[in-house]
Amino acid sequence: MKKVSLIFGTRPEAIKLCPLFLEFKRHSEFQPHVCVTGQHRQMLDQVLDVFEVVPDVDLDLMEPDQTLAGLTSRAVIAIDSYVARHRPDIVIVQGDTTTTFCAALAAFYNRIPIGHVEAGLRTWNKFSPFPEEINRLMTSHLADLQFAPTQRAKENLLREGIPEDRIFITGNTVIDALHIAIEKVRKNPPAIPSLPVELLNGDSHKPVVLITGHRRENFGAGFESICGAISELSRRFSNAAFVYPVHLNPNVRKPVFDILSGRSNIYLIEPLAYMSFVALMDRSRIVLTDSGGVQEEAPGLGKPVLVMRDTTERPEAVGAGTVKLVGTDRRMIVDEVSTLLTDEKSYIAMANAVNPYGDGKACERIVRAIADNNIC
Ligand code: UD1
Ligand code: UDP
Repeated sequence: MKKVSLIFGTRPEAIKLCPLFLEFKRHSEFQPHVCVTGQHRQMLDQVLDVFEVVPDVDLDLMEPDQTLAGLTSRAVIAIDSYVARHRPDIVIVQGDTTTTFCAALAAFYNRIPIGHVEAGLRTWNKFSPFPEEINRLMTSHLADLQFAPTQRAKENLLREGIPEDRIFITGNTVIDALHIAIEKVRKNPPAIPSLPVELLNGDSHKPVVLITGHRRENFGAGFESICGAISELSRRFSNAAFVYPVHLNPNVRKPVFDILSGRSNIYLIEPLAYMSFVALMDRSRIVLTDSGGVQEEAPGLGKPVLVMRDTTERPEAVGAGTVKLVGTDRRMIVDEVSTLLTDEKSYIAMANAVNPYGDGKACERIVRAIADNNIC
């Protein structure tokens, strides 16, 4: 039996790797093992609960308002010791977080093969997203098997000299997770106690603008401008509901609560469990976000997505017309949201359900690629 260690630490990695862990469990030739760094604590645990995954090892590394260097140094040492002890045949990492890079580095130091899920995303700008662009670039060059979600991601890897026979186009495992979630929530819509019932069950005809934001490069002026835009929009569209599950990073919470608290049509709520978030996304009219994962999921639900960033490593849905980059400029955000709320033609042009990121079978393809490969 091949020992596979899936190492992850944050909410998005967990959403994208739990379905893969469950797929490995269906194959008797694999013995999957989950090691979480706990880079995120509450937001990671929420996902583990939803997928009913109990980690074999929990390194519990999160500290309040942690620094990149502090977390990186703690993570490399802790993961190194886990990998040296457990000696897996392959380590699987996902995406572009500090945990991703540190787990790949620790596996490399122990000469253990590495599979990188969601390989090959690039903006070619090392400060946007920061530090993720460099995390994933370094991870690509440490990894042995590359699971690229799209053809474009594969081409990015080829441009960097990664051998073609190490790259597998699989789709993104987030679509596997979304398929699991959407079926459940459409059958049994979850309640979200922090929101009025009618907002979710559709009795209210208020358009819902769903907001998420957490990028480091937007801290400070970027977040102030984003919140200024939401504030102006909430006054201009008193019939709309602006729902914002606020990320637990204190650098996000302070400006968001300082600027946006106390408005009757702005709902600042705690991060939602994955099923509740998917249900809310499904109910929303527009999604305003700087998140990577949300940019991949919302197009599959036919929701126009306005991305509050200057660059994206996920250009496929921009090309398909459902995602638009609006940056963090207050005027630009106000204008673009206003257009979608008032101009039906512009709305319909963006509200096409497209799925450039996968068909829900990425996990199957990844497991098959590892089974067929003699690298481990
Ligand atoms: C991290 C990732 C980012 C990813 C994001 C997903 C890095 C450098 N950043 O950013 O790529 O897009 O997660 O959300 O890897 N906190 C809590 N509880 C939690 C989670 C966070 O209290 O469950 C607070 C803590 O004070 C923590 C801080 O948020 O120190 C920052 O967490 P961290 O993981 O370093 O950065 P994120 O901004 O969450
Ligand atoms: N998400 C969630 N609850 C929330 C907000 C987001 O479960 O309150 C999910 C969302 O569906 C997506 C993922 O979290 O799959 C995105 O995580 P995040 O935006 O934190 O990170 P990124 O994708 O930008 O790295």
